[in-house]
Amino acid sequence: MNSKHQYVELNDGHFIPRLGFGTYKPQEVPNSKTIEATKIAIEAGFRHIDCAYAYQVEEEVGLAIRSKIADGTVKREDIFYTSKLWSTFHRPELVQSCLEKSLKKLNFDYVDLYLIHSPMELKPGEELFPKDENGKTIYDHVDLCAVWEAMEKCKDAGLAKSIGVSNFNHRQLEMILNKPGLKYKPVCNQVECHVYHNQRKLLDFCKSKNIVLVAYGALGTQRDKQWVDQSSPVLLDDPVLGALAKKHKRSPALIALRYQLQRGVVVLAQSFKENEIKENIQVFDFELTAEDMKDLDDLNRNYRYLAAEFGADHPNYPFADEY
Ligand SMILES: NC(=O)c1ccc[n+]([C@@H]2O[C@H](COP(=O)([O-])OP(=O)(O)OC[C@H]3O[C@@H](n4cnc5c(N)ncnc54)[C@H](OP(=O)(O)O)[C@@H]3O)[C@@H](O)[C@H]2O)c1
Repeated sequence: MNSKHQYVELNDGHFIPRLGFGTYKPQEVPNSKTIEATKIAIEAGFRHIDCAYAYQVEEEVGLAIRSKIADGTVKREDIFYTSKLWSTFHRPELVQSCLEKSLKKLNFDYVDLYLIHSPMELKPGEELFPKDENGKTIYDHVDLCAVWEAMEKCKDAGLAKSIGVSNFNHRQLEMILNKPGLKYKPVCNQVECHVYHNQRKLLDFCKSKNIVLVAYGALGTQRDKQWVDQSSPVLLDDPVLGALAKKHKRSPALIALRYQLQRGVVVLAQSFKENEIKENIQVFDFELTAEDMKDLDDLNRNYRYLAAEFGADHPNYPFADEY
């Protein structure tokens, strides 16, 4: 194992690198940027790559990873690759086909981690966000436990080494954990998590069940106009992050990432810029004090950048619960 990359053991015995590279990109960014950034990330030392069917860049990410395998930088087994089941594929008979589509685009035999992207199922079909004539997103109704059973079959078929969930609240997680005949527990729950929404209660719940919390949006998200209110506070401009950055002679981004590692959270970081990608890997090179951690804890205001408002009246909308 790469010493720079500390790993966390998942509840199924596999290991996940504690820092991951995010590959979501807003529509206006050309796909070629994803190829370039993913290659830079691997060269810089990232071994955990987070992607999803819905990001529509798995072909590019696969190409980048395979080129770094071809030039001898890494082997396939050095890379921890995550993909996600999109919400229009929740019907149990469709679950494996979504994973197979991802694998075909990637030109991989397996993914390391496969997640249910969101608990909110949508009408099956070609469109990622099917809409009715009034522009309202069309939902579907599938028992989440049945989706989970189909995920377990993907693991048994060897197409995913580990399986987990994303954007689940603790009640939805508990429902899976209490499912009669549960074969595999979710290994993780990937959720929005940063100093303005530190997910303390969900984190404690996950820890008590041996489920890893994976943080997305740890740097305040990409502020994609499609999803994020442009008047929302810019996380990396926060004065407390700025003061700690000065104190540790690091950037606010590194402080925000280090905060997550020190509370046992696996953290994702996205960037298309070479200097930032190389900087983010330095998260292992310094330590915050208990007092610094307390100052950062105090920034919490349960603020969500990505509240998925399109699904606010979905029966499985996860963010109405406290945690
Ligand atoms: N499961 C889900 O539903 C879900 C949802 C959202 C995201 N995700 C995953 O989580 C990943 C990360 O989240 P995210 O993409 O929302 O963004 P993020 O990692 O919170 O933030 C990315 C932004 O931070 C800035 N940044 C990165 N490194 C920096 C540095 N060293 N110094 C200053 N600024 C820096 C970049 O801005 P500039 O490059 O403009 O400087 C970039 O736009 C995604 O890519 C995706 O893989 C999952």
